[in-house]
Amino acid sequence: MANVIVIGAQWGDEGKGKITDLLSRSADVVVRSQGGVNAGHTIVVQGQIFKLHLIPSGILYSDTECIIGSGTVIDPQVVLEEIDQLEALGVSTKNLMIAQTAHVTMPYHRIIDRASEERRGDRKIGTTGRGIGPTYADKSERTGIRVIDLMDESDLRQKLEWTINYKNVILEKLYNLSPLEPEAVIQEYLGYAKRLRSYVVDSSLKIYEAIEKRKNILFEGAQGTLLDLDHGTYPYVTSSSPIAGGACVGAGIGPTAIDRVIGVAKAYTTRVGEGPFPSELDDEIGQLLCDIGAEFGTTTGRRRRCGWFDAVIGRYAVRINGLDCLAITKLDVLDSVDEIKVCVAYELDGTTCDHLPSNASQFARCKPIYKTMPGWKQPTTHCRSLDDLPKQALDYLKFLAELMKVPIAIVSLGASRDQTIIVEDPIHGPKRALLDANGTPLLGDKLPVTSE
Ligand code: IMP
Repeated sequence: MANVIVIGAQWGDEGKGKITDLLSRSADVVVRSQGGVNAGHTIVVQGQIFKLHLIPSGILYSDTECIIGSGTVIDPQVVLEEIDQLEALGVSTKNLMIAQTAHVTMPYHRIIDRASEERRGDRKIGTTGRGIGPTYADKSERTGIRVIDLMDESDLRQKLEWTINYKNVILEKLYNLSPLEPEAVIQEYLGYAKRLRSYVVDSSLKIYEAIEKRKNILFEGAQGTLLDLDHGTYPYVTSSSPIAGGACVGAGIGPTAIDRVIGVAKAYTTRVGEGPFPSELDDEIGQLLCDIGAEFGTTTGRRRRCGWFDAVIGRYAVRINGLDCLAITKLDVLDSVDEIKVCVAYELDGTTCDHLPSNASQFARCKPIYKTMPGWKQPTTHCRSLDDLPKQALDYLKFLAELMKVPIAIVSLGASRDQTIIVEDPIHGPKRALLDANGTPLLGDKLPVTSE
């Protein structure tokens, strides 16, 4: 039995949905601990497409309990739409639970998110416009509305009247927008509260009870390491903590409950929104990755920026999250590329830099230093074991594992559950702590990290 955190090792959109869906199979409980409806998971099961923003993908397994934790922000309208979509497709939501202490996204959050982006002009973040930043800002400012507040009409009325009047000053005076009518918002959210009530729980307690019963718990990350508010590429980040430590905070459990941390990374890199991206490709290969990889956001439909794999970022993700192993997704997207580059370090102001600079303007000046590898120029979507892979594809994976000094436990070659190579059982396989005398991770003989 193990409690496992799955996190994004890049800028989000790494394909965590598919990996968490696979791992959910052996989980009794799946917990989403941060973020809101800015996230989007697309899961394909027997040809049926599920697009989930907030509800953990574990919901697709009838016996799995799914908890939306305290560190998330809840947009009730979207959650209810997801519940309706699932129920309409025959998926029960009886095992869904929502933290009473999660904060609620209100209409003024969405309006302010979009208005403030517009006002920033060329300093904009490129947010999803879902009100995420303003909801977390109110949480920090201690003017937020929590799920538990929705459950008590007089409490909600009192809090919302004050808050909406306060927000109306900002809407009118700062953004020159129409004020909101408090009673209309109160009635709208009381309607949501009625439908959500049966899902609301003390989530930290529920998770603790599951830990005590030695259940398998999967902590499903949203966004990615570089979008972390503290450790990401600030200011081009989200407002929550998508790293492994954030999963504990958001779920309300201690770090000693965690057995494994699995990072998910694409075989190349993508990013949506603004901000520096050293290995970005503005050429026909970037376009090809976008087209073949269908690199358009699940939530906003925006085209994702595409580039080569960046091992500086990969190593950073290993360090910040304490990754035990990696799942590499979308390897098949590289099938038709002649030569594949990997960013192994940066050139910064004439010197070689092998770590991620914290300073945004320094990061913007980083130029990628590439190692070029031959492509395999043949399809891999049918491969089901490492032995099925072309030699060049295997060499590419070995090189990534070597650069990041962690085992690659899973390789994904398509959207379906079966288009996957399980190299090592990521939960019960070897831990990162297994090092040889030189500090090199031991991966078993299936995927040695030492190059030839
Ligand atoms: P926000 O989370 O909407 O405030 O957006 C802040 C930044 O995070 C923007 O660059 C978004 O594009 C990015 N972002 C937020 N959620 C996701 C996600 O799920 N995948 C990828 N990028 C995201």
